[in-house]
Amino acid sequence: MSSDSKSKSVVPAHVAIIMDGNGRWARQRGLPRIKGHEKGSESVRAIVKACRNAGVKYLTLYAFSVENWIRPKTEINALMRLLDRFLRNEEHELHENRVRLRVIGRREDLPSRLDEKLREVEARTRQYEDGNLILALSYGGRTELVKACRTIAQRVKDGELSPDEIDEDTVSANLYAPDIPDPDLLIRTSGELRVSNFLLWQISYAEFYVTDVLWPDFREPEFKEALADFSKRRRRFGDVK
Ligand code: FPP
Repeated sequence: MSSDSKSKSVVPAHVAIIMDGNGRWARQRGLPRIKGHEKGSESVRAIVKACRNAGVKYLTLYAFSVENWIRPKTEINALMRLLDRFLRNEEHELHENRVRLRVIGRREDLPSRLDEKLREVEARTRQYEDGNLILALSYGGRTELVKACRTIAQRVKDGELSPDEIDEDTVSANLYAPDIPDPDLLIRTSGELRVSNFLLWQISYAEFYVTDVLWPDFREPEFKEALADFSKRRRRFGDVK
């Protein structure tokens, strides 16, 4: 894309995605659910690349929710293996494109070997600033807010903070990744009109884009459509303009 045509569209700095529909994609083909997740991993790779091509600086993916632990053990294990494989196969891409990996969520719930590997890749990509891939793992928006409340309450108890000093910045500063700007665009695939406990605090002013396309079929052309739609939105942030 030439810099001229790029300047005409507004590119979101931060895109967050609820990747939904892997199971349905598999069912439609008479395949086991895990095949949908495998194909969904390919979409992850494609969308990380699409972000780089479009100039999106932050991409947050809802890869596993706190609620997902109730799924059958075989599916959970398969998802953890796919994450492991993703790290092994894609780390070089992160280095080549200077993309920093981050994890948000209750990482203490993750298998310790996977968490270790995630920490290693996070450490090895820490210095990069061209792009940021944030994986939400064992993530829940309410859990994140409860954690922030506890930390703030402790600071009040310790006499470091008075209750009337608590403002929105105090809450933001106690989230999993306080330095990451709020998402500008929230995409959900597979047509469901739900937020599903994702980034509850951070999406206050995000533009919402829902597509019927199932996550395994969501690739760069579909992503570009979402960006084009975003570019047409008039964000008012409560103002009248
Ligand atoms: C939702 O589809 C998807 C998930 C719960 C997991 C997302 C995981 C991946 C795309 C693969 C691994 C991730 C990375 C980052 C490599 P669903 O199973 O709820 O679909 P359904 O609603 O159609 O059943």
